[in-house]
Amino acid sequence: MEKIFLDILRPDDWHVHLREGEVLSNVLPFTYENFGSALIMPNLDIPITNISLADNYYNEICKQIPKAAKFTPNMTLYLTDCLSKDEIRKVSTHKHIKAIKMYPKGATTNSDSGISDFKNFYHLFEVMEESGVILSIHGEVTDEKVDVFERESVFIEKVLTKIIKQFPNLKIVLEHITSSDAVNFINEQSMVAATITIHHLMVNRNIMLSKGIRPDFYCAPILKTEYDRRALVQAAISGDRKFFLGTDSAPHVEGKKIASCGCAGIFSSPLAIPLLIQLFEEHSSLKKIEPFASKNGRAFYGLRQHKDRVRYVKRPKSIEVIKDIKTSDGKIKVFNPYNEIYWEKEN
Ligand code: DOR
Ligand code: ZN
Repeated sequence: MEKIFLDILRPDDWHVHLREGEVLSNVLPFTYENFGSALIMPNLDIPITNISLADNYYNEICKQIPKAAKFTPNMTLYLTDCLSKDEIRKVSTHKHIKAIKMYPKGATTNSDSGISDFKNFYHLFEVMEESGVILSIHGEVTDEKVDVFERESVFIEKVLTKIIKQFPNLKIVLEHITSSDAVNFINEQSMVAATITIHHLMVNRNIMLSKGIRPDFYCAPILKTEYDRRALVQAAISGDRKFFLGTDSAPHVEGKKIASCGCAGIFSSPLAIPLLIQLFEEHSSLKKIEPFASKNGRAFYGLRQHKDRVRYVKRPKSIEVIKDIKTSDGKIKVFNPYNEIYWEKEN
């Protein structure tokens, strides 16, 4: 039988949580084996709020990457009022730090150090705009009066439009967009791009909630409607330069997911690319994988394109795939909403 394969420029993950310690060691291989680079989020228990902390975290990660792996970790700083204008200027020429991440206080895991009023950061946005440093944003308001399903749309309307108006040349990435409102908004912008996760492309809030609750699909921002999911798929398969892959792979052990107050986060790195290929294949859009997963992010971040390709092979029968990984605190479940997966990386 004829072998079906897909060669794609090495993909990048423009948004990942690798954690630290034992979890870092357990999850990192799935990132360096499947991606050419990744933008590593700074929301550790002690957040990465300055260059020195980012350098230490970078070194901790690099120590665990085998020489043969073709992988570059890119770092982020967590925006707090400890950040100075001077530090931002240093970030603009730093080799590994590629963005500053803004978390609204209380929006997600380890966001207690996040910001309460974005206007207090205008003096820093000004320097970022001048020096070309990218602002990466968790785009949700945290006001308890706003319905959890509306928090992204309200953020766009009440916060993001104001930042853009004040700083029209500031490069912004609206992370892990979840709604058709967000897709429409990004389509109108020139300096704002967006990452899209695998899970927001593949599952909706009905799947999470309608036949019993599925804590494995609970994430922030929360899954939206089928209409929203379809808008995200259209954006991803459009190949438009402003949309690119950021898995937001965010490992939590089972005991913290299945709990009376479970954590938000989906661990998707291990099967991210096979799932993405299968999804794009279903939409007859395999040609658009490279823009979405390999090219658009690098272009937005001003990095040279990868030259080498990786080969994925389609097996005639569905393959046995990894279900979870084990840590001393319990299992971490791997995201996989499909019953059958046919694509795998050829080694
Ligand atoms: O679901 C999420 N989990 N969303 C985030 O923004 C953070 C992440 C985490 O760190 O667990
Ligand atoms: Zn995240």
